[in-house]
Amino acid sequence: MQKLMRGTMPPLEDDELFPSTPGKVKLERALPISRQLQRCFASTSTTFLWALFFIALTASYLSFQTFVDTGSRYFSASWGGIQWEKQVRNSAQFHRSGGMSVLVTGAAGFVGTHVSLALRKRGDGVVGIDNFNNYYDPSLKKARKTLLNGHGVFVVEGDVNDARILAKLFDIVAFSHVMHFAAQAGVRYAMENPHSYVHSNVAGLVNLLEACKSANPQPAFVWASSSSVYGLNDKVPFTESDRTDQPASLYAATKKAGEEITHTYNHIYGLSITGLRFFTVYGPWGRPDMAYFFFTRNILQGKPITIYRGKNRVELARDFTYIDDVVKGCLGALDTAEKSTGSGGKKRGPAPYRIYNLGNTQPETVPTLVRILEKYLKVKAKKNVVDMPGNGDVPFTHANITLARRELGYKPTTDLQTGLKKFVRWYLSYYGYNHGNPVN
Ligand SMILES: NC(=O)c1ccc[n+]([C@@H]2O[C@H](COP(=O)([O-])OP(=O)(O)OC[C@H]3O[C@@H](n4cnc5c(N)ncnc54)[C@H](O)[C@@H]3O)[C@@H](O)[C@H]2O)c1
Repeated sequence: MQKLMRGTMPPLEDDELFPSTPGKVKLERALPISRQLQRCFASTSTTFLWALFFIALTASYLSFQTFVDTGSRYFSASWGGIQWEKQVRNSAQFHRSGGMSVLVTGAAGFVGTHVSLALRKRGDGVVGIDNFNNYYDPSLKKARKTLLNGHGVFVVEGDVNDARILAKLFDIVAFSHVMHFAAQAGVRYAMENPHSYVHSNVAGLVNLLEACKSANPQPAFVWASSSSVYGLNDKVPFTESDRTDQPASLYAATKKAGEEITHTYNHIYGLSITGLRFFTVYGPWGRPDMAYFFFTRNILQGKPITIYRGKNRVELARDFTYIDDVVKGCLGALDTAEKSTGSGGKKRGPAPYRIYNLGNTQPETVPTLVRILEKYLKVKAKKNVVDMPGNGDVPFTHANITLARRELGYKPTTDLQTGLKKFVRWYLSYYGYNHGNPVN
């Protein structure tokens, strides 16, 4: 500001303030200040300088306002503007009759990318949002974004905790559905960074639901819960009505909290809610923090892998679910979701609240997973078998999918052999054999 003032209004010299007619100088200097000012304003050149001064003052005030404005968007957001709004509108446009406009959160994530692509391919409108955090290699998220861009899906860079960006998106597009994947995933990382779970899985969820409940029309809300909510439940297979009040990790606790929070928004505001409990999803473009992914990397690099075993040397087992099957389950949930009943924050009648398991119903042990990877990678793994530490993992998961089969038409068809073969093919084409930089 100071710079601007100095640049536009140089300090005035005495000679410039007063005419230099000899004999008048003394008298003029003796005039009262008010008279001097009057004279000063009366002179054409000083009026011009004062005008410049006020213009500069206004300009610097406006630029300061813009700075404050941008600053409140976490100083880093790159959203807004006519071009940006056009991209959002185009991306939200559907190209089939009866199509949907879906806001996909966590769109640059593993499941978010696949679901966004599937929606787009069948002609639905999709706008993504992702904060591209560095929980795992952000360059993989950027590569997924590039893939989505290539298919006409625009991914906004932003956090679901940012109420302004959500308000803007809902202002531009009347989303019929929200598909919410943005979350802090991973069970063990919760011991390292517990707050990231509260930030994304609790605060971010509430912020998003606030935006949805206030929207007019309200979208139907479908979101990713997790099989981890079954926690210490040992009744198998896990059924939706089983108890979920014994979480074994903070991650599980925040997902369970999400189920309760979404229930509240369903009850008070008439939001149509569908929660999907995913069971260990794997496949191409997957998550580097998951065992099948980092086992592959270590095996190729000749590094040892650690295999946990449970109490009494029991092998751990997971209901590994292939990504394409999960995508079909997500689309089934969106297609069958009834409309929300409220609008602009007011409930007009009861709305559905649904929860489904999306698993494979064929648990496989971790040593089996490793054997299949060895086969497709054609490399023997160096295994370290150790007792499972008490860090939030559970010994096994097994989904009962009767409900999803009946109500969503969900029917998983990919076994672990087939799914891992596809994953390995993708992994080798993306990273090459030595896990260097991505090769495509
Ligand atoms: N993959 C699985 O096996 C599995 C199992 C159970 C549940 N889930 C749930 O499914 C969803 C998708 O999982 P995924 O495997 O694709 O994980 P992912 O980590 O690949 O995807 C999540 C995405 O959300 C983004 N994100 C996180 N916090 C955000 C925030 N506050 N604002 C905006 N973006 C944010 C991340 O950058 C990431 O790209 C998650 O909710 C996860 O908890 C996944």
